Amino acid sequence: MNRKYRKTIIAGNFKMNMLPGELKAYAESMKALVNRPRWCETVICAPFVDLPAAIKYLNKEARISIGAQNLSEHEKGAYTGEVSGQMLRDMGGVKYVIIGHSERRQYFGETDLTVNEKVKAALACGLQPIICVGESARQREMDLTAPLINYQVRAALAGVDEKQIKSVVIAYEPIWAIGTGNTATAEQANEVNRYIRSIIRDIYGARTARATTILYGGSMNDANAFELLAQPDIDGGLIGGASLVPEKFAKIIFAANQE
Ligand code: 13P
Repeated sequence: MNRKYRKTIIAGNFKMNMLPGELKAYAESMKALVNRPRWCETVICAPFVDLPAAIKYLNKEARISIGAQNLSEHEKGAYTGEVSGQMLRDMGGVKYVIIGHSERRQYFGETDLTVNEKVKAALACGLQPIICVGESARQREMDLTAPLINYQVRAALAGVDEKQIKSVVIAYEPIWAIGTGNTATAEQANEVNRYIRSIIRDIYGARTARATTILYGGSMNDANAFELLAQPDIDGGLIGGASLVPEKFAKIIFAANQE
């Protein structure tokens, strides 16, 4: 982290877990464990149907920022089952939206081009995208991590201007580390995060690169968070499994309280 230049964000990704009716108790536990930390912004990215309760209990009462996990690339129209950026905005309380998570790429056919459309759709209605990039185990073995990340980041940001990039958060999530317990080492994660920052520098310049929050995600937990967050280019975490357990998530938030 480097709090002098950029914001630290500890974001939970609930994925398809947590019922709307479970959020009040979750919020109460979080509030009792860690109340309004000054050193980072805490975010929960919840399923669509959880968002009203998340806004009510997590945002209004526990001051946790709220994100969605996806949005449509379309503004409105005949897209049965989809949710638009305007709909999320209209709820009054959704600030972030995860875009291009590897599970969406893998199971729902999202491509770098749809990711780019979604990023632009989010920015157009004032939502802050958390763009996920990351390589598979096979791609890492084949030494394709750097070219793949380079392509994913550039494709996601095509057409995003100098002003809009200020609202963008990037998350490096190696697929082989997600839900597997196989965290990237702090050095491996930092190396890719630093590389992502160099791509931002190349496109938008040094000042913007220095100010961009770049997260790490993939089996981050209360035991490894301190070491990962101590790295200079890891500005926070995107946490799946461990974010569902208030005690674990709170410990990760406390791990971000370091210089
Ligand atoms: P886990 O923390 O469960 O590995 O999930 C990481 C992730 O995919 C967050 O978006």
